[in-house]
Amino acid sequence: MSATAKKTAPMPSDILARKGGTPLVCLTAYTTPFAQLTDPHCDIVLVGDSVGMVLHGLTSTLGVTMDMMVMHGQAVARGLTKAMMVVDMPFGSYEESPEQAYRNAARIMRETGAGAVKLEGGEEMAPTIRHLTSRSIPVMAHIGLTPQAINTLGGYKVQGRGDDRARILADAEAVAQAGAFSVVLEKVPASLADEITAAVPIPTIGIGASAGCDGQILVIDDMLGLFTAFKPKFAKRYATLGENADKAIAEYAAEVRSRAFPAAAEHVFGDDVPEPKK
Ligand code: KIV
Repeated sequence: MSATAKKTAPMPSDILARKGGTPLVCLTAYTTPFAQLTDPHCDIVLVGDSVGMVLHGLTSTLGVTMDMMVMHGQAVARGLTKAMMVVDMPFGSYEESPEQAYRNAARIMRETGAGAVKLEGGEEMAPTIRHLTSRSIPVMAHIGLTPQAINTLGGYKVQGRGDDRARILADAEAVAQAGAFSVVLEKVPASLADEITAAVPIPTIGIGASAGCDGQILVIDDMLGLFTAFKPKFAKRYATLGENADKAIAEYAAEVRSRAFPAAAEHVFGDDVPEPKK
């Protein structure tokens, strides 16, 4: 059964209805076990193209492919029973034309069972968002810092300060008018995020934006302390699983070298004790 077909998964109309209400809880996931962990707590689980950096060791999201997104989308779908699954469109899969975007978005929806796709870009992507939404593909937009554009933005900088503020506001209005059912605001000043949240009729989902947004999203590996290559200011660490894993692996290595593991009584089998029947 696809994620979309699951009876309890919210539809885009349910997400739209949450505008101004209890904040939407969103996290990324890339694998079945983490989908299972996020599902009871989240409204939306995003299979983000951040998968390239946090799981595949890429230095940016630009090397992520359609095949990677489809494979991780399928893995996450197997772990969800109630949250809506949104899958990111990777760099180069939608920018060329609305037709290219439709082809690739339809593949993602068909092969993963996603309830929606997410794509980066503001005013310039509005015709593409309109093309998709008018052809049965719900779109979550993503504006402000758009990591697929780091080469033209000049790095992972805050967007929308000073004279740039009007551009980001116009982006938000354009994607909402084009039919996006929600919009991620990444790394913009809090006052701008609040202004956009008040101005657009669709839920805003903040990451490095404002507590006033209609929802929040974080990369799961950041919030669990599993991705430690760098820590964006906005990524609050709720756990230090990377450190715990390092300690556990070091302890295992020491015990193997000292022959403390495996322990005779607990982890190895004798010659004559029968195996318990299953
Ligand atoms: O790829 C991703 O994980 C994202 C979120 C940070 C919003 O786009």
